[in-house]
Amino acid sequence: MKFLDLPPATHASGTLRLPGSKSISNRFLLLAALAEGETAIRDLLLSDDVERMLEALKALGIDWQRGEGNDFLVRGAGGAFPVQQAELFLGNAGTAFRPLTAALALSNGHYRLSGVPRMHERPIGDLVDALRQLGADIRYLGNEGFPPLEIGPAPIRAGGRTTVRGEASSQFLTALLMALPLTGAEATVEVIGELISKPYIDITLNLMARFGVTVERDGWREFHIPAGARYRSPGTVFVEGDATSASYFLAAGAIAGGPVRVEGVGRDSIQGDVRFAEALQAMGARIGMGPNWIEARAPERGRLQAIDLDCNHIPDAAMTLAVAALFAQGTTRLTNIASWRVKETDRITAMATELRKLGATVAEGADSIAVTPGLTFTPHAAIDTYDDHRMAMCFSLACLGSVPVRINDPGCVNKTFPEYFERFASLVAPVIAIDGPSASGKGTVAALVAEKLGLHYLDSGALYRLVALAALRAGVALDEGEALARIAETLPATFEGGRILLDGEDAGMAIRSEECSAGASKVAAFPAVRTALLGRQRAYRLAPGLVAEGRDMGSVVFPDAPLKVFLTATAEARAERRYKQLIDKGMSANIDILLQDLRERDARDSARAVAPLQKCADAELLDTTAMTVDEAVAWVIERVRRRLPQAAARS
Ligand code: DC
Repeated sequence: MKFLDLPPATHASGTLRLPGSKSISNRFLLLAALAEGETAIRDLLLSDDVERMLEALKALGIDWQRGEGNDFLVRGAGGAFPVQQAELFLGNAGTAFRPLTAALALSNGHYRLSGVPRMHERPIGDLVDALRQLGADIRYLGNEGFPPLEIGPAPIRAGGRTTVRGEASSQFLTALLMALPLTGAEATVEVIGELISKPYIDITLNLMARFGVTVERDGWREFHIPAGARYRSPGTVFVEGDATSASYFLAAGAIAGGPVRVEGVGRDSIQGDVRFAEALQAMGARIGMGPNWIEARAPERGRLQAIDLDCNHIPDAAMTLAVAALFAQGTTRLTNIASWRVKETDRITAMATELRKLGATVAEGADSIAVTPGLTFTPHAAIDTYDDHRMAMCFSLACLGSVPVRINDPGCVNKTFPEYFERFASLVAPVIAIDGPSASGKGTVAALVAEKLGLHYLDSGALYRLVALAALRAGVALDEGEALARIAETLPATFEGGRILLDGEDAGMAIRSEECSAGASKVAAFPAVRTALLGRQRAYRLAPGLVAEGRDMGSVVFPDAPLKVFLTATAEARAERRYKQLIDKGMSANIDILLQDLRERDARDSARAVAPLQKCADAELLDTTAMTVDEAVAWVIERVRRRLPQAAARS
């Protein structure tokens, strides 16, 4: 996708579970690969950067397997890698490139490491210099001081001291510390200059300790690895949620009402970026925290306030503050962020350029940024993302300024958080999913709930009916799956007010015919038709929220819907209702035939292989057999009030 248009939003609230931390995922993988024994890694992040590490480990002879969901089993080599010669492509994954460089440099083999062009612009000289002090043979294949690299076999000097510069990236020290136990000898690393991003070193030391290697440290200057240190698998390890990813959602809660609660990180987290919550608190947000969760709400009164913050302790999450600054009164100054310049892009310049598009005044320093919001947000800004996942995620927040925002190249979030935009949408546009069988009355109930709450409404059945109608009109048989899918892909359907248009013509009556009802149920059984309609259905999720009805709203289209209802009634009650409807319209009807048709359609909708009609485990059952429409609507609104108080407040 070239761009993603985010519609204006004014409120964000909800609860979500975070994907695994990238930093922890890639460290666990490497430690498990070097350790003695098998390690079960639970809740690993599945993203591009982690995939690069997994591929590299496979190429280096490490046996790993994926289990259920995000669980992996790694059989450790119990020392250096089994494969002594390999070419590795590591994309733009710094958390794979740096630690692997160090581990391979101490492995006495022949390796080449390369990445995407931006990776070849990210310095690695400080790490190479440190490894050369130990005797490693590393050559630059392009520019001096940058990847790609060639590593040759070399005798490594056991014991003694190594120095590494601490100012450019803490990943160099992390890489050295993780690799040094491969030598089996005592080793000391001395950091030259100020060490940045110290919390990341804390993560490294913590995880090494879990694999049996305790590093002694003297302040942040000297790190000592004892003689005979060896990694041993601790058995099973769990990856925490990603604290940096949490920052976008927490900021959304602080900016736009809240409460937004993230699960997977909290007070017990080993990630420094959880301290982002303190920065939000300093801006006036109301923060709550438990061992494994954090919650953010907007200030009790008034707006967020600007802050002046040294961000050395939260280098990545600090980017989120730069965008939150658009919503704060005054000028926010973020300092000690020199590392931004050597990340996925030059983040200081990129951030300044894009913030200006939204009307802010931005002063860019060598290692700082100052952001003063404009009086209003400039609408329709097209934000460039520089192949930087964090730029894309940060700038999604701008739509909370009640303006439409375009995010260019949104796919760059795959680096760490492939489902980011869907999760973000679930906070600013919650979905109430109402599924159920034909003629259960879910359409009437859903439309009334949407109207009463001022939410958008999606009648997904109408889309399947329109496909059937378009096929019948074009003379396409209802068993030609591929031809039907092509019709679904390009369906010229629009919903205007209460009207349903096909090719600009009112099709509201035509799609309700018995022929279209039976036809819709047939076309809906083709997986290719369902896939073709998926994106179109999801595009209806717009702020302030959506009531979506159909058969698979809760199970397939909006599985993260915070409220799911399975609305049903006995087949007899449904046939009776349909009978009355038809008689009221002056049409003739036979109740026995209607009942038989309904049963056949139920069977077809429930028995099909893809997205069958089913009650999800997390859906609430609403049996309307003995209820009036008003009672059913009141029942749903009561559930909304309990689960989504903000959405119900509009009723
Ligand atoms: O809700 P309805 O009766 O208008 O739906 C018409 C047909 O479309 C129904 O027989 C099953 C199918 N359908 C579906 O498969 N998935 C949906 N989400 C909605 C409808």
